[in-house]
Amino acid sequence: MRKTFIPILLVVILGSAMLFSSFKPEDKKDKTEQRVEDLLSKMTLEEKAGQLNFVVGDLFNTGPTVRTSESDKFNEAIRKGEITGIFNIHGAAYTGKLQKLAVEESRLGIPLLIGADVIHGFKTVFPIPLGESASWDLAAIEKSARVAAKESAASGINLTFAPMADVARDARWGRTAEGAGEDPYLVSLITAARVKGFQGNSLSDPQTIAACVKHFVAYGAAEAGRDYNTVDMSEYELRNTYLPPFKAALDAGSATIMTAFNELNGVPATAHTKVMRQILRDEWGFKGLVISDWQNIWEMTSHGYAQNNAHAGELALKAGTDLDMMAEIYLKELPQLVKSGKVEQKYLDDAVRRVLWLKFKLGLFDNPYLYSNTKTEKKQIRSKENLQAAFDMAQRSIVLLKNENNLLPLSASAKQKIAVIGPLGNNKEDMNGTWSFFGEAQHPVSFLEGIKKYAKGAEVTYAEGCELYSDSKAKFDAAVAAANKADVVVMAIGESAVMNGEGASRADVSLPGVQLELVKAIHATGKPIIALVSSGRALELTWLDENIPTILATWSLGSEAGNAVASVLFGEYNPSGKLPVSFPRAVGQLPLYYNHKNTGRAYDGNHSEPGSERVYKSRYRDVPNTALYPFGYGLSYTTYKYDNLKLSTDKLAPAGQLQVSIDVTNTGKYAGEEVVQLYTRDLVGSITRPVKELKKFQKLTFMPGERKTVKFTISPEDLAFWRADLTYGTEPGDFKVFVGPNSRDVQEASFTLLKDGSVKYESSIKN
Ligand code: NOJ
Repeated sequence: MRKTFIPILLVVILGSAMLFSSFKPEDKKDKTEQRVEDLLSKMTLEEKAGQLNFVVGDLFNTGPTVRTSESDKFNEAIRKGEITGIFNIHGAAYTGKLQKLAVEESRLGIPLLIGADVIHGFKTVFPIPLGESASWDLAAIEKSARVAAKESAASGINLTFAPMADVARDARWGRTAEGAGEDPYLVSLITAARVKGFQGNSLSDPQTIAACVKHFVAYGAAEAGRDYNTVDMSEYELRNTYLPPFKAALDAGSATIMTAFNELNGVPATAHTKVMRQILRDEWGFKGLVISDWQNIWEMTSHGYAQNNAHAGELALKAGTDLDMMAEIYLKELPQLVKSGKVEQKYLDDAVRRVLWLKFKLGLFDNPYLYSNTKTEKKQIRSKENLQAAFDMAQRSIVLLKNENNLLPLSASAKQKIAVIGPLGNNKEDMNGTWSFFGEAQHPVSFLEGIKKYAKGAEVTYAEGCELYSDSKAKFDAAVAAANKADVVVMAIGESAVMNGEGASRADVSLPGVQLELVKAIHATGKPIIALVSSGRALELTWLDENIPTILATWSLGSEAGNAVASVLFGEYNPSGKLPVSFPRAVGQLPLYYNHKNTGRAYDGNHSEPGSERVYKSRYRDVPNTALYPFGYGLSYTTYKYDNLKLSTDKLAPAGQLQVSIDVTNTGKYAGEEVVQLYTRDLVGSITRPVKELKKFQKLTFMPGERKTVKFTISPEDLAFWRADLTYGTEPGDFKVFVGPNSRDVQEASFTLLKDGSVKYESSIKN
């Protein structure tokens, strides 16, 4: 801690000792509630409303833009106790100054929440969450969140607005980039890993920050993939698909949760009593803080749900939204609403209790400068160790989609001419991806830099070919000339950072601008092409798949993008990523997800000819129903053989277990990691069940020639779901079990579950 802070700290400790006269240091753990009550009893209505008012630094739009500068504009409001915290600011010195003001110059000396969208790293930028999710590597994902917590906490931040737990099945929705994909089980495990990474074992550890799981709830199901759009869904679908990742995050300890922008079945999420009071508080017993999203309370008038601001404030608070982000409605309206009797004081008090509880738990009352440490900040930011973790995570996030004739890996020492072509080839800023406004544009390693560094024997040239969006083909000729001189072309194409993320839905999820035409022009040279496709969503890559020999999904990989990609291209790292989303053949298939229902007229053929015999089926006349690259899919430089699927029994008793085993052999010449995936299908249910559901997976290392018998255990609780009577449990009957390298190429066996049973909901997320 800086020396100048010591006297301040003494004042704070003495001040706190006076405020909390019943508090003794040795019983601090058990006495948080008492401390909260003591403080609450001293607060005016206005001070209470101030504790529910959360404001942004100097970004006045809802999405990520530029950084904040140090500003004095909140000083007066802090002194008056009109704000509970500021978000999207950073810097140990600056945040320390603001905390000092709050604890020394406001009447009650309540420290500030300093929030931020720390979504995938801080100054060291990790791959976007969808990219990290492609690793299926829970330990690496947890570590990524831990590094982000360490860096941001040292910079004064004590709360992140992450992780995003929204299941996303429509690639048009830009925020697909921020989550863990289309499968509720995978999203649950990854979301829980992120919460653990951010929060560690203790909220008051200066190297951890509080998590805020978002957006509650069903935001990922926005109609037509258009951001902020309406959601209307059955309670079954809500409970079986969209709620589980939130439950998983809260079971992992997430201290806070954020409401969603969408309405759900006619009620804006921020005033949704059923999901917040009944499900979140009563059923799940969540005691933490509920934070509105940006101006959500105010937007209830646009939704046509509230008559005016006061009405919106009343509805939101009564429904269970504790903190008002950016609407200032609680600050301005709540005192009067309470005085007039429209809102009972207990609603206000409960919300304030939860804010104070969080501030105590974060350790801010004991040391308001815990998270604002200039020395640690310097040590942590972009440390060698943190960059190494980002490199490792980026390698694991890359998915090999196609590798005809083993074009990859390239030899690093060969005397060859490599042409890097495309708008993302020599690009640094876009490597940071969406939601990375703390990461600096000049920092990431570009693909070109990475390739030059790794390809020791090669002559590497670069041609942009075209811009990310523009229609101009003026640079095509130079790119074709570069390709003509090369032995191999690496094409870096896809989306820029702002083409996905919040407010970045796309009606057409193919390559933007004239990029596909550029690929075609380069393809016409006859040179072998390796396509690096970066995106924050599943893209439509049908032409590429039919014509380009080698394709890699490279998302937005963060600070170490170029190094990670080059390490894969030159075989230092054997790609092991598996898709967390289905890649469509055509935009018209969206939403597309592997765990769909069967329908009464299922179609499992691949005809796409109009007029073919099976027209009256659930199918398109012009494209197959299937994904181009299915969920769970990803190749390796080696090959794996799956055989000998065995079940220990074909009858599963209520308290019993079923062992599933399969032999997996590395049949190629490289060591590699493989994600072995297990799915089930419940053939008949009181409500219809998906055709496949991911239930377990293991990511294992195989040496060349190595064979492993991979074993999974299935218990009845793994088969539970929200049944027709809206209870959670199992139903007896026949099941299929599938094991394989992805959701499509599986081997199958059958078993029968002998009896039904109710299951405690918590048990549902164990891998
Ligand atoms: C709006 C976004 O929906 C949310 O995810 C984010 O945390 C807030 N803005 C704060 O920036």
